[in-house]
Amino acid sequence: MKKLISTLLVLLFSQEFLSDSYEDEVRKRLGLLKNKPMVTMASDSDASESVAAGRTGEAVYNLGCAACHTAGLAGAPMLANQAQWEGRLEKGLETLTNNAYNGYNAMPAKGLCMDCSLEEIERSVQYMLDSLTVN
Ligand code: HEC
Repeated sequence: MKKLISTLLVLLFSQEFLSDSYEDEVRKRLGLLKNKPMVTMASDSDASESVAAGRTGEAVYNLGCAACHTAGLAGAPMLANQAQWEGRLEKGLETLTNNAYNGYNAMPAKGLCMDCSLEEIERSVQYMLDSLTVN
């Protein structure tokens, strides 16, 4: 019985040892990867364009919203078009942001910017509002 227990203990310790060295190996490999450049989006490569947590409103707009909101596709209110934003402005930034984030009629959720955070969507909505003369 004693022998069995010590055999088990030895097995346990060697397992522990094995997983330790495995972790070291993983750490080593991760260390090797650390110096690789992070993957960035083409429009995001200019450091001055990105803000602390995420992209600027302009960057997100150009990436995801411009496709519809510059040309007014499918009835999307156009950038800098005061008349088309009338009736929407009074909803306020928070509601407009939620609608853009969750989707609203023909407006797809997140404006198809699937990796956009709520904050990034808010910035891009703010960017659109800033394009209007009165807001
Ligand atoms: C596929 C086209 C499309 C894309 C891409 C798109 N939108 Fe829209 N958006 C629309 C359409 C269409 C409407 C009008 C919906 C309506 O009023 O029925 C709209 C409306 C809106 C509104 C007004 C919502 C309201 O409550 O009146 C906001 C704000 C908005 N979009 C923000 C964005 C933002 C921000 C992005 C990018 C992150 C974006 N959209 C990308 C089509 C699009």
